[in-house]
Amino acid sequence: MSALEVTDLTVRFAGLTALDAVGFTVRPGSIHAVIGPNGAGKSTCFNVLSGVYRATSGSVRFGGADLTRMPPHRIAALGVARTFQNIALSRFQSVEDNVMLGRHRLTRAGFVGAGLRLPFARREDTRHRARVRDIARFVGVSEYLDAPVGMLSYGVQKRVELARALAMEPKLLLLDEPVAGMNGGERRAMAEVIVAARADLDISILLVEHDMGMVMRLADEVTVLDFGRRIAAGTPTEVQRDPEVIRAYLGVQAADAADAADSAGAAAGSESETA
Ligand SMILES: Nc1ncnc2c1ncn2[C@@H]1O[C@H](COP(=O)(O)OP(=O)(O)O)[C@@H](O)[C@H]1O
Ligand SMILES: [Mg+2]
Repeated sequence: MSALEVTDLTVRFAGLTALDAVGFTVRPGSIHAVIGPNGAGKSTCFNVLSGVYRATSGSVRFGGADLTRMPPHRIAALGVARTFQNIALSRFQSVEDNVMLGRHRLTRAGFVGAGLRLPFARREDTRHRARVRDIARFVGVSEYLDAPVGMLSYGVQKRVELARALAMEPKLLLLDEPVAGMNGGERRAMAEVIVAARADLDISILLVEHDMGMVMRLADEVTVLDFGRRIAAGTPTEVQRDPEVIRAYLGVQAADAADAADSAGAAAGSESETA
């Protein structure tokens, strides 16, 4: 199994350093979380790892391969699968067809063979559909296989998206805020699937996450970003006690609370004016 090694990764946008010499290693078979307040650089990091953004400097290596300047499809071909922070499924297609899309990398017949309905293409299709049904069962969406994705609840759609990533048979799974916007029950269901995926499918997982509770339950190791810099790293317990981390998170909450108080004050003010 391969480790993912991120070294001195820097990403600059016009006038802004989104990531500043960040480094961490995702050990084979582990769940590694990258956490931090909004704007910390988590999604930027994720987008470099999956080939969507180009690093300004630094490197990303996976096993023997240098991913730093590879396009997304070549990174995917090395066994690195991703999900998106916002759902990226085809709403009018069935769950089964959406998950099948994840298997294209593994399909030998390709579009021509499948289009001509050649016998080997048909056999291959049957084999892939059987695997898609296994994966659907694994993430708990079997009962929705024929339903158009757009008809399903948000929590189920997010699990379908995970199923599509798993359908690529990845060695490393990149998850960007997999429980964002979910209610408690949906979060628990997703957490269970993530734990099961690591245990049963021999994959490493990089989890980019805002929710500290989720990270504490799931991660073996944590890297904490704030304003593009790595401010802490270690086990969830170590990181949770780190004064820099507490400051970064509580600072945000204090600022949010102040904003909320301000807008409440402004609202109260405007009400009294109209009264
Ligand atoms: N494509 C982009 N162009 C310019 N600035 C960007 C781009 N993507 C992200 N940023 C900026 O980089 C910083 C980090 O953003 P992001 O990685 O999305 O943070 P997070 O996911 O931790 O909330 C933010 O200040 C954001 O505005
Ligand atoms: Mg983000």
